[in-house]
Amino acid sequence: MDNIIHIPTIYCQEHDFSLQPFAMSCASSLQESLNDKAVAHDVSNIPYPYTMDHAVAWIDSRSQIITSKSDRVDFIIIWNDNGVEKVVGSVAFIEMNTMPAKGHVAQVSMWIARKYQGRGLATAALKMLIQFGFGELHLHKIHGFAHPENTGSIRVMKKAGMQHEATLRGDWVRTIDGKEYIADSYLCSIFNPNSSYERLPADYRSQHKQ
Ligand SMILES: CC(C)(COP(=O)(O)OP(=O)(O)OC[C@H]1O[C@@H](n2cnc3c(N)ncnc32)[C@H](O)[C@@H]1OP(=O)(O)O)[C@@H](O)C(=O)NCCC(=O)NCCS
Repeated sequence: MDNIIHIPTIYCQEHDFSLQPFAMSCASSLQESLNDKAVAHDVSNIPYPYTMDHAVAWIDSRSQIITSKSDRVDFIIIWNDNGVEKVVGSVAFIEMNTMPAKGHVAQVSMWIARKYQGRGLATAALKMLIQFGFGELHLHKIHGFAHPENTGSIRVMKKAGMQHEATLRGDWVRTIDGKEYIADSYLCSIFNPNSSYERLPADYRSQHKQ
């Protein structure tokens, strides 16, 4: 049976923001924050210009029930900007596999609206996402990819405890101004310290010879 995954609201006291499930009331603030070529440039599948239709369609698609078979979990980052609740970014697990046979792994995705960058929000939000992934989704491994020149994203992943695992050559098809390019990706990852999996011994093949 598929287990339903509840997306909670998680408050960050240090930076006074919260991770929340997407809600239609956020549509206009989401549109305002995401209508930025610089952000769209670095995150796959974000169109530019980003219209209200895009925001509504996206929130609508996030309103479905998330189960252990879903391949992503999305949080919106809400920050109180002088008394007004603003969408300042998002963190998500994408390409998620919470089924045991698939290894309990997920990839992170994140963006912060330009006006709110440089305040530590991405680092804090990513740490919270990782904690949710290990604690509630029982993921075994969480990884993230960035273009090797995306120093901001790499720095955030490392500050959140992830380590450089490899740089994959020509692993990523990116569309820039309508043209497709092959790009390298800088892979970082972190393992669940409380994973229920035991690591396969290095000499398992000789141990299990018939
Ligand atoms: C990458 C991104 C999420 C960082 O968000 P942020 O909230 O500004 O990050 P933080 O404030 O938590 O910064 C954490 C660290 O990264 C550094 N950093 C952030 N952006 C940086 C940049 N563009 N260049 C160099 N360093 C940067 C900060 O200086 C800080 O390091 P420090 O504590 O040593 O000073 C944001 O710039 C963004 O949304 N970019 C566009 C989308 C994107 O690239 N997403 C990731 C796709 S893989």
